[in-house]
Amino acid sequence: MMKKLAVLGCGVVGSGVVELFEKNKNLIQKRSGMELEMAYILDLRDFPDKPYANKIVKDLQVILNDPDVAVVAECMGGVEPAFTFVKSCLEAGKSVATSNKELVASKGDILLQTAKENHCNFFFEASVGGAIPIIRPLHKCLIANEFSAVAGILNGTTNFILNKMITADMDFSSALKLAQEKGYAEKDPTADVDGHDACRKICILSSLAFGKHVYPESVPTKGIREVELKDTKFCGQLGYAIKLIARVQMLENGKILPTVMPMAVEEDNLLSQVNGVYNAVMVRGDGIGKAMFYGRGAGKFPTASAVLGDMIEEVQLSDTIPSQTWENVNSTDFIEDFAKFTAKYYFRTSAADIAVLSEIFGAIDEKTISTDEDELIFVTGNVLNRTELEIAMKFLAQKGIQVLAQYPVLTA
Ligand code: NDP
Ligand code: HSE
Repeated sequence: MMKKLAVLGCGVVGSGVVELFEKNKNLIQKRSGMELEMAYILDLRDFPDKPYANKIVKDLQVILNDPDVAVVAECMGGVEPAFTFVKSCLEAGKSVATSNKELVASKGDILLQTAKENHCNFFFEASVGGAIPIIRPLHKCLIANEFSAVAGILNGTTNFILNKMITADMDFSSALKLAQEKGYAEKDPTADVDGHDACRKICILSSLAFGKHVYPESVPTKGIREVELKDTKFCGQLGYAIKLIARVQMLENGKILPTVMPMAVEEDNLLSQVNGVYNAVMVRGDGIGKAMFYGRGAGKFPTASAVLGDMIEEVQLSDTIPSQTWENVNSTDFIEDFAKFTAKYYFRTSAADIAVLSEIFGAIDEKTISTDEDELIFVTGNVLNRTELEIAMKFLAQKGIQVLAQYPVLTA
């Protein structure tokens, strides 16, 4: 029997879903064993020059009222009207696949529950890591693991910008403009630059890995706006790469600590080698040890590939799958305070006596850089918690040593 598909939003991702489906339709039908048709595309605009112009609709009711529509892809972005539209589809028994991380991070618990109540599915593989399969591996292939950490480069735009700044000597705004032209950036690119997009993604991975909804407000988040080119170069000389790292750790007390911030990544950590629009996610579990997932983190067809993967699985399912879910919780007691964050630190300071620094930090690494501009670059020898860091900063100030840049180190 023929099943119909529909797409909400015909922008970068939505048009990719339609075009990739049409291109590989025969292959998809053969592999899935289903006869499928891309029946409707909802958008505010018309696309008179496109081969799919006759599929454009303006009213969601057309899709909701067609009983043959089994699966809908939401690729509009934002929370509203995406939330209302997705909820209506699920209430009508139609499964939904979305690329919209803002929607999943803020309303995932409600939508998963709605899907369950209506015996359909709410999938979001494309919402984290673009093309990379990470949602399905976490709740299916790795179902037997207790997770202790998930860490990754989860934003293609910022990784692309940092890479262009370092390798092509491009300034920040030109690199951002190029990322926008390539369709990587969010509608409001401050979401990329200030870390909110990576924050939404680590919320989704944290919720899935640890079973309770983590909202963006609970995640200390810092973007790449203040990253200076000179620090990317000094870091390189000391054997690190500055990357925007989204991470969640399970601490010994059983609480989780999600964070998003630029970190100095050791060069023997694979994450330090992830460049351009590529993303990577490292998962630590008691069965697997460590596993790494890598691929294009943004862009039209990489993201469309993930959305279509979800849609095709959803067409084949006759009920909600139990593994891809998390609890809706009112408390944030399971999330540790940022005060408990620990790391070694990369510092760039005004010129300073190494013996004094060693005293302040307990120890500093042997390799340091002194610049012609009377700056000193070093990495602390010991792991510091936030209180120890604050005390050290006070001592530095007392000694008249100015802190010019500071990044926590991500160790392997
Ligand atoms: P675009 O802005 O390119 O596309 C969104 C489309 O939805 C536009 O055509 C827009 O129309 C349409 N739209 C907006 N509101 C409505 C509405 N009320 N009714 C009908 N259509 C509407 O965004 P992207 O394709 O880049 O992103 C879509 C989602 O996917 C976002 O959540 C994004 O974060 C996510 N994503 C994007 C990736 C990428 O590489 N671009 C990768 C992974 C995820 P109009 O232009 O007229 O407003
Ligand atoms: N703006 C996002 C990024 C799109 O650059 O990673 C993919 O989620």
